[in-house]
Amino acid sequence: MTKIKRLKWGVTIAAAQTEGAYDIDGRGASIWDTFTEKSYKIKDGSNAKIATDFYHKFKEDIDLAVDIGLQIFRFSISWSRILPEGIGEINPQGIKFYNQVIDYCIQVGIEPWITAYHWDLPQKLQDKGGWTNREIVNWYAVYVAILRDHFADRVTHWILINEGIVCIGGGYFLGVHAPGKRGIRNFISSTHHLLLAQAKGFTVLKEKSGLQVGTAVSCTKIEPYGNTIRDRVAANKIDALMNRLFIEPHLGLGYPDGDLPFLKRISKYYKEGDLEALKTDFDFIGIQTYTREVVKAAWYIPYLGAIQIKSQNRNVTPSVMGWETYPEGAQYFLERFAKYDSNKPLWLSECGMALAADEDDQERINYYQKIIKITETVSHKGINLKGVLLWTLVDNFEWAEGYIPKFGIVRFDRKTLQRQIKKSGLWFKKYLSEIK
Ligand code: GAL
Repeated sequence: MTKIKRLKWGVTIAAAQTEGAYDIDGRGASIWDTFTEKSYKIKDGSNAKIATDFYHKFKEDIDLAVDIGLQIFRFSISWSRILPEGIGEINPQGIKFYNQVIDYCIQVGIEPWITAYHWDLPQKLQDKGGWTNREIVNWYAVYVAILRDHFADRVTHWILINEGIVCIGGGYFLGVHAPGKRGIRNFISSTHHLLLAQAKGFTVLKEKSGLQVGTAVSCTKIEPYGNTIRDRVAANKIDALMNRLFIEPHLGLGYPDGDLPFLKRISKYYKEGDLEALKTDFDFIGIQTYTREVVKAAWYIPYLGAIQIKSQNRNVTPSVMGWETYPEGAQYFLERFAKYDSNKPLWLSECGMALAADEDDQERINYYQKIIKITETVSHKGINLKGVLLWTLVDNFEWAEGYIPKFGIVRFDRKTLQRQIKKSGLWFKKYLSEIK
């Protein structure tokens, strides 16, 4: 039997969902500040101006993570807190804030991980086209170099860009996330630029030795509705879009345009050497998975030729996110990514379950019990899984869903900003103390 190495357990949070302090200490506006001004875009009409006030309460949150027994604290940096204009002048107070977060993590014995980009582009860069403007490859590289120069002396693990498909799909194709752009041209150009930026960011970070630099890929299991060729082709297309597009070009496999022909249009944005430049030998890959989708062929849907069968119309109970909670996807994707390269270290860098305020937190315990079982199964199979980061610590601003879904193992009161460990948090604390 393969000897299972002990996995590391941690938590992931993101700046735009937790920090608040949106106009404090020199921070510039981000696209999420602008987007949430149109309150109808957010399900409960809310915004993240205060969010969970992590900016002022980071010590309390880090203490909670330590108290639960977690070993990793992954947080993202707000680009516009570091560079209010996106480029140019550095905001010293932004640097100071993240130094405090990092130093406090180290002081209390939890490992800080940085996500360089978790969807909150500076508005000033969006004014110049955001991800549709190829200049962003350089803007991002400069930003990442600043992070490296200030933080890489104490932070070893870095995730360059969180979930490209959700960032670009939601923000530049469907328009349901900031900056609310739509359309195929926005999508195609942004995709290419984001991947190029990520590849360049990797090179920039690796200029410093000893760093572990990876990416975080959104993974959604896609299944055909019927056992017909048409539905299978439709499922392959959506799978290429959701699960392959934002990793295969980095792996040297090019764009998955065989299964998704509209991607051929990306060539319009190629410059000489781009395909080569996209190749990135990440030190690790983060898999992030929540749900599964079932799709059916639909000739009338442009580009994709497929429609999603909503979870309400399937034999599943949708969560408050409207999606099926599907922990089994973790096993499927860990096995699938191990096929790309069985040596590559893999992390489950986000997984979690959304519950409504009045739903029983026991459901989350059941969910994480399944995740734990999966980690044991895949580790026995010899898959190089290093650890799991929970989404998330404290209930927070869930993008277009506002504060309605609760993903945290810690409850949060929006009026008093008070935190309270949930049943699932206490359960984790016990579990983590037992496996020590
Ligand atoms: C991920 C995202 C997180 C969080 C989570 C739950 O896609 O990275 O920021 O929102 O989904 O929906």
